[in-house]
Amino acid sequence: MTCEELKELLATGGENLFARARAIKSQVFGDEIFFRGLIQFSNHCKQNCLYCGLRSGNKKLQRYRLSKEEILSCCEEGGKRNFKTFVLQSGEDDYYTTEKMTDIIQAIHRQFPNCVITLSIGEKDAKAYQAYYDAGARRFLLRHETINPGHYSKLHSGKRKIETRTECLKQLRKIGFQIGSGIMVGSPYQTMDNIIEDIYFIEKLKPEMIAVGPYLTCKDTPFKNRKNGDLKLTLRLLAIFRLMHPNAFIPATTALAALDPGGREKGALAGTNVIMLNLTPQELCKNYRIYDNMEG
Ligand code: 5AD
Ligand code: SF4
Repeated sequence: MTCEELKELLATGGENLFARARAIKSQVFGDEIFFRGLIQFSNHCKQNCLYCGLRSGNKKLQRYRLSKEEILSCCEEGGKRNFKTFVLQSGEDDYYTTEKMTDIIQAIHRQFPNCVITLSIGEKDAKAYQAYYDAGARRFLLRHETINPGHYSKLHSGKRKIETRTECLKQLRKIGFQIGSGIMVGSPYQTMDNIIEDIYFIEKLKPEMIAVGPYLTCKDTPFKNRKNGDLKLTLRLLAIFRLMHPNAFIPATTALAALDPGGREKGALAGTNVIMLNLTPQELCKNYRIYDNMEG
């Protein structure tokens, strides 16, 4: 699609955008929705992204870490509920050394040999990624957030480089991981042209998973006065990704559900095919506050 066509679709939804996206999803996947069991095992993070409540600069947040045993018991709960994929998610927490992390992955892999282990734990070096893979992890989610270097810099106080992200994604792919990437819709300073650049970047990257959700305000960040991302724009972008990537796993994200009570259903109607459900007990993960008004 040309830049103009994309802009038109994002602005108006065009003719039957959602119906077309849904039709493609049904052709490839039928009516199935894939459920993933999410385990938010640590809210410690050494990074300081300006938009995120887990940022190291947020001293108000009560931090927690789950032990291997606690993580395994989340998986057991997931096993009982017939989940076939576990997503281990955390901030960038160096407490979980490569050894600790591989030990956890191996334990899950041993106990649930038929389950897919997905990681969402941030930027690491290639050696660590390889060790996770060897231990049995097969998927890795790492949103690139924005491919525009100027925009990336504004979201990270100029302290981090988009090249590090893209290099990580490249390494993960080389090792054999199925990769997931994506952006926040309506993140501070984002322009329509940025979104178009991201669409083209993802078109080239061809990730197996595309995770796109609205930016949501978090009161304990420097962006606390910024507005939430737009629901319609997020849904239109999800539908565009479905049209461009018929085979991709595209979740209706938790952020979408937090923005709108019907967010998940609306996401499904726009062609998404994955829902992540939290397996972490509420009392353990109530402080996984990336943004305000997080639901369950
Ligand atoms: N609103 C929505 N999504 C956010 N993320 C971080 N902060 C926010 C926020 N305020 C997303 C980022 C990151 C993932 C952990 O959560 O895209 O990749
Ligand atoms: Fe840490 Fe990820 Fe939040 Fe950045 S977005 S502060 S890396 S948890």
